[in-house]
Amino acid sequence: MKNGLNTSCLHLEGGDETELHYGAISYPIYQSATYVHPGVGRSTGYDYSRLQNPTRERLEKVVAGLEGGIDAFALSSGMAAIALLMEIFAPGDHIIVEADLYGGSIRLFDNVSVKNNIEITYLNCSSEDISSVIKPNTKAIYIETPTNPMMNVSDIEAFSKIAKEHGLILIVDNTFLSPYFQNPLKLGADVVIHSGTKFIGGHNDTLAGFIVTDKADIKEKLRFLIKTTGSGLSPFDSWLILRGVKTLGIRMERSQDNALKIAKWLQNESLVTKVYYPGLEDHPGYELIKRQARGFGSMITFDVDSKEHALKILEKVEIIKFAESLGGVETLITYPTTQTHADVPEEVRLKNGITDRTLRLSVGIEDIEDLIRELTDVFSSIKEEDHA
Ligand SMILES: Cc1ncc(COP(=O)(O)O)c(C=O)c1O
Repeated sequence: MKNGLNTSCLHLEGGDETELHYGAISYPIYQSATYVHPGVGRSTGYDYSRLQNPTRERLEKVVAGLEGGIDAFALSSGMAAIALLMEIFAPGDHIIVEADLYGGSIRLFDNVSVKNNIEITYLNCSSEDISSVIKPNTKAIYIETPTNPMMNVSDIEAFSKIAKEHGLILIVDNTFLSPYFQNPLKLGADVVIHSGTKFIGGHNDTLAGFIVTDKADIKEKLRFLIKTTGSGLSPFDSWLILRGVKTLGIRMERSQDNALKIAKWLQNESLVTKVYYPGLEDHPGYELIKRQARGFGSMITFDVDSKEHALKILEKVEIIKFAESLGGVETLITYPTTQTHADVPEEVRLKNGITDRTLRLSVGIEDIEDLIRELTDVFSSIKEEDHA
């Protein structure tokens, strides 16, 4: 029988081979660029760390196991993962892409992919009809669910059905829920992307990215590409992410508990005009996310009533840190307009619902009383200044 998720974060399915490493409970960091050949035509299984490294391989096996893939690829960042994946496409190919994506992914598609003559069509995948934009040269559908930052939820199984009917590859960026809460491959996706910098690593200290697949042909292409382009994760960073992943489950649960309380608190705050959190029953994706995932995650986007108030919140927070990124143990607040989505054209941002009144919270594992107290103090002080 397969182990549970928390066990799988710690132990490999089918034995840990600790006896090969002097019983070390923490997998060793193989800080070696190259490997001695025992003889001509013979190999230890490792020849050169650009191709593969034992520490990176161990991490890849853990992440592949968590997502239900046949293989995973650990890259030097989430963007390195997405950029590598784009190399499986050829000039002239067409990809349908969710409109509300992480701004860096949009920057990559609009600048690098388009330069490589890959055609991109953006679509609001949670509400618009995809069939009408599929063309003879369409090769893939690329979605995030929930999306960054507007928290739209898309139906992975429905997209997988359409993808299969038309012979397309379905790619899902699963960063926001992590493999602990959602497994797109099990819902019919072909490829899963993660910014491992976020929940998988979980400590706001290491950049990493993952591509996971359950398709043998895609796996073969990616093994060739990682060897050829050389963006594999370093042994030390692989070890840091391995260490982070051990606590994935308890971090996800704890930060989700905090997030639900904060989302409800924000709903009752008079300066907040809208809260986007799929764990709230009035979120349009609530029923869908309950069906396809095991949790709602800990990302909350919200609008306040003015730009001035949004900026004041960023100035006043103390425990909550005003910083880019997400998915770590510390609670972060982000201003998508000038940070994560600064390179997205303004008209696209506005169409997606990102305004200068929009803020994004990545809720961490602090004591909830402290987070709520801080938010109460920040909003009260803004109201006092308004009335002064
Ligand atoms: C959903 C999503 N995908 C990919 C990335 C890119 O990851 P990285 O910053 O590790 O390159 C990010 C970064 O914020 C993200 O939010």
